[in-house]
Amino acid sequence: MTNLDSGVRSLLYLICAVAFVLGLHLMNSPRTARRGNAISAAGMGCAVAIAFVGAALDGFEQAAAVVVLIAAVATGSLVGLWTGRRVQMTSMPQLVSAFNMVGGGAAALIAVGEALRAGPSTAVGTAVTTAVGVLIGSMTVTGSLIAAGKLQGFVSGNPIRLPAHRLWESVAVLIALTAVVWSIAVPDGVAPLLVLLASALAVGILVVLPIGGADMPVVISLLNACTGIAVAMAGFALSSPIMIIAGALVGSAGTILSILMGAAMNRSIISIVVGGFGTAAAGVVDVAGGAGAAVRETTADDVAIQLAYAHKVIIVPGYGLAAARAQRECADLGALLVERGIDVSYAIHPVAGRMPGQMNVLLAEANVPYDLLDDMDASNPGFPLADVALVVGANDVTNPAARRPGNAISGMPILDVDKAKSVVVLKRSMGHGYAGIDNELYLQPQTTMLFGDAEQSLLQLLSAIKTLVA
Ligand code: TAP
Repeated sequence: MTNLDSGVRSLLYLICAVAFVLGLHLMNSPRTARRGNAISAAGMGCAVAIAFVGAALDGFEQAAAVVVLIAAVATGSLVGLWTGRRVQMTSMPQLVSAFNMVGGGAAALIAVGEALRAGPSTAVGTAVTTAVGVLIGSMTVTGSLIAAGKLQGFVSGNPIRLPAHRLWESVAVLIALTAVVWSIAVPDGVAPLLVLLASALAVGILVVLPIGGADMPVVISLLNACTGIAVAMAGFALSSPIMIIAGALVGSAGTILSILMGAAMNRSIISIVVGGFGTAAAGVVDVAGGAGAAVRETTADDVAIQLAYAHKVIIVPGYGLAAARAQRECADLGALLVERGIDVSYAIHPVAGRMPGQMNVLLAEANVPYDLLDDMDASNPGFPLADVALVVGANDVTNPAARRPGNAISGMPILDVDKAKSVVVLKRSMGHGYAGIDNELYLQPQTTMLFGDAEQSLLQLLSAIKTLVA
């Protein structure tokens, strides 16, 4: 066989596409997510191998191309493996952003390559997808770079606005759109391509700079969708069905995820991109003053007694659990209570933490059994029956203010923690959460606060309960 028959090739690609879809489906549940990830990764690995073997059998145009391809695959695999193994769960959003940057950049470069190969008689359809691929891919590169920089602390997490920012942003968008039309009209022109590249890179920077760091997870999800669209456009330019399918899956999954995140926060995507919310300083209010005046502080020994003699305990994890990296201590506490015959469950809000599924992943990493994890709808009926709701680093997702109009989280569905017989909150201070507003839960009579880093507080609780029941 001197070449890989295109029918066989299409069939193999189809099997890879089925693996992508099956993998995505399995990612719906924490129980099957690892398998789903492995199946999707295997599908992608096979697609790369088929492309490589196909090109080899077709005969590479230049021997150097083989070396470049092998070096690229090896470097990409090693970097992916190294970062995947080293990254902390709390740094996952910036890693995803960095991967978006690479994906968007690769798609944009493919589109640039196709544009440079184009002749004056290039079909309009190809010229459109190439120009749109360059536009979206390039915007994604700089947008993702700024987003990752903000989350990693290389760029200030506060909104950054240049003098006359909106004007520059509008001008850049206008030039980019004009360059798209110019590139379609003159598909073999280098000048329109350069203008398009430069203006799209500028749009990515100018759009993401004024968005607060706390809004970055949603922005990253949107940029992820952009990467998918750019890859699909590059697939059209290359007439590669597998790239179109993979790009469309990433594009639609990213779009759906962004919409779901917005809905769970009761915010529109437009309001997130335009900015404003989530940018209020999460100021740390003095425990003894202001809103802290009516707060009841407790001790680890008192909470240990409450927990050790409870019948039903619901643990409510939030961003503070991730920040304190206290998932193992949290899991140990849950296991200790289960050992004592206490009915323990974990209530997971869809936007607890700073990225979708963060709490599920953290608790799974600490080997909390999946059947103890309940989503919001399953958890809420249980709170009135709970003797103790133990809130570990969660804030906004428990704030009853969401049930009233007129504040930053109005309308956001919350966990009904305030309906539990008693509530214990583990956090360091009266500091705000992401939404930047006071939590009414902390002032309610059934609530007590155990101030301190979540990891230290959980360790104190573990030790106090063990001493109590020894
Ligand atoms: P938040 O409301 O952000 O509150 C987290 C709390 O953790 C803070 O009040 C902080 O209080 C505490 N904390 C921080 N470090 C801690 C540590 N080392 N030990 C103990 N506590 C610590 O978290 P949440 O309840 O999980 O809500 C998530 C928020 O993020 C929502 O508003 C949601 O809309 C938003 N959001 C979520 C997502 C996704 S997809 N999950 C994406 C974007 C935005 P102290 O400073 O007093 O300790």
